[in-house]
Amino acid sequence: MNDNTRPTLELVTRDERDIRDIERAAAILRDGGLVVIPTETVYGLAADACNADAVKRIFEAKGRPSDNPLIVHISRFEQLGALVREVPESAKKLADAFWPGPLTIILPKSDRVPDVTSGGLDTVAVRMPSHPAARAIIDRSVPLAAPSANISGLPSPAKYEYVRDDMLGRVDAICDGGECAIGVESTVITLAAGTPTVLRPGGITPAQLERVLGRVAVSPSALKPLAAGETAASPGMKYKHYAPKAAVTVVAGDPDAFAAFVNDSDCDGVMCFEGEENRFPGKTVVTFGDADDPFSQARRLYDALRELDALGLRKVFCRDVNTAGVGLAVANRLYRASAFRRVYAGRPPIVGLTGPTGAGKGYVGAVLAEAGCRVIDTDAISRELTRPGSPFLTTLAQAFGAQILRDGALDRAKLAAIAFSDPAQQKKLNALSHPAILARAKAEADAAIADGAPAAVIDAPLLFESGADKMCNCIIAVTAPEALRLQRIMARDGLTREQALARMSAQQPDDFYTSRADLTVVSDDGSDVRRQLEPFFRRYIPS
Ligand code: TXA
Ligand code: MG
Repeated sequence: MNDNTRPTLELVTRDERDIRDIERAAAILRDGGLVVIPTETVYGLAADACNADAVKRIFEAKGRPSDNPLIVHISRFEQLGALVREVPESAKKLADAFWPGPLTIILPKSDRVPDVTSGGLDTVAVRMPSHPAARAIIDRSVPLAAPSANISGLPSPAKYEYVRDDMLGRVDAICDGGECAIGVESTVITLAAGTPTVLRPGGITPAQLERVLGRVAVSPSALKPLAAGETAASPGMKYKHYAPKAAVTVVAGDPDAFAAFVNDSDCDGVMCFEGEENRFPGKTVVTFGDADDPFSQARRLYDALRELDALGLRKVFCRDVNTAGVGLAVANRLYRASAFRRVYAGRPPIVGLTGPTGAGKGYVGAVLAEAGCRVIDTDAISRELTRPGSPFLTTLAQAFGAQILRDGALDRAKLAAIAFSDPAQQKKLNALSHPAILARAKAEADAAIADGAPAAVIDAPLLFESGADKMCNCIIAVTAPEALRLQRIMARDGLTREQALARMSAQQPDDFYTSRADLTVVSDDGSDVRRQLEPFFRRYIPS
């Protein structure tokens, strides 16, 4: 049956007017045959979803593991009721907003859905495609189980020529429905347990889903491989997927750093955005859409991956994508295609870490240090600069008088009292100490980067006031609710409530920090700092 010798009928179903071939496809499907149908996402390899024998042959034709469940395609909302145990309000809302279209909804299944279709799970995935020919074929036949119409492990086909390459001789008919408008598979959301969760990102974004449902979670496996021992919420996530034969590595960093990295390497192929083709003399270049348009990237991605193989490339470097909006779906497919090989090109960043006292900078610094960053503490530099006998302490004593010394050591309380009592004295102190601290911080940051740290983090409460922000490529602000900061300061510094409040009121408001930062981390008790730092890690410290 999967010996590539099955005679395959080639049909044309561009839209609902191609009625003759739509009827022929529907008849084959009603009889338990296999037909490749076009959808707006990618082509699907379809069979009667409730005919267990027909569905078994889908798995054979694709070489698909039998525990990987299929999506059931319907053409009218009323068909959903027979497939699932009940239709919750949330499913109705999603259907109203996004069907027909690239959204697949998972619900507890009814007894009508055979176990082969659901991969042995007690849930079923259902979607209503918007391609007019797909809907017409379903309308004239039955609900159709259909995975993407590629051989398992190859990129999903969004063009007829690729479907033909993969499926001719393996199925009863292939319908030419033109090029798929979206180019990557549907968004898969489960409503079967707790918080609605996106298992696979696609053409409908998490933000669009949240507008309809309220809070929506995104499975961590969207952008990361499963950790050892972790089970996949969606079985499809555990298989290597969308893989070209070439070894693809995604390279984060700006276009110049990317070009330098590529031209310095022995790679034979490059995947980049349109308009960048000329930057890689001597390399074979494949483009995948516009740098700023994730829809164009989605439409081109699978084609580009197949082109790599058609060109016989072995080692390919690919530009990284922005994961905002539909970019999340592009990144999900691209990172899998590259087996999660991802590196950062360019000089490691100097990062400014700042925020009001008690906000939790220290903790955020510790999380960054755990990821390999070198954290440089400007308070420690200040203490080190003013140790007894240091040249800088002598400079201070000349500026403010011997009264700031006690037994040769700096009397910090005294110096603080002088500075806080008089703005002119404060200015004088800053003019002396900021440049000295900055110079030391810069030297330590350069040394950290020379040592191979992926980032140097300058922890500085007065990052902006001291001008240290100007040496930073990226700034992270840390904030926390005031009541929590109050508690933390009292506990940490042994202060009374009044003393702690006085210290807090001398500080800049939160938006002073957040409006100047590239990323804000809220270090509330119980908030997940690591997750909030993800955009930073994704950009600069790929795993
Ligand atoms: O756009 C699409 O969704 C395309 C077109 C043809 O409709 N279809 C498609 O199907 O991408 P497929 O089989 O390649 O991917 C289905 C994904 C797999 O990752 C599978 O594990 C997951 O959906 N899935 C299906 N049923 C599930 C269930 N009951 N629970 C969890 N995941 C499920
Ligand atoms: Mg697939």
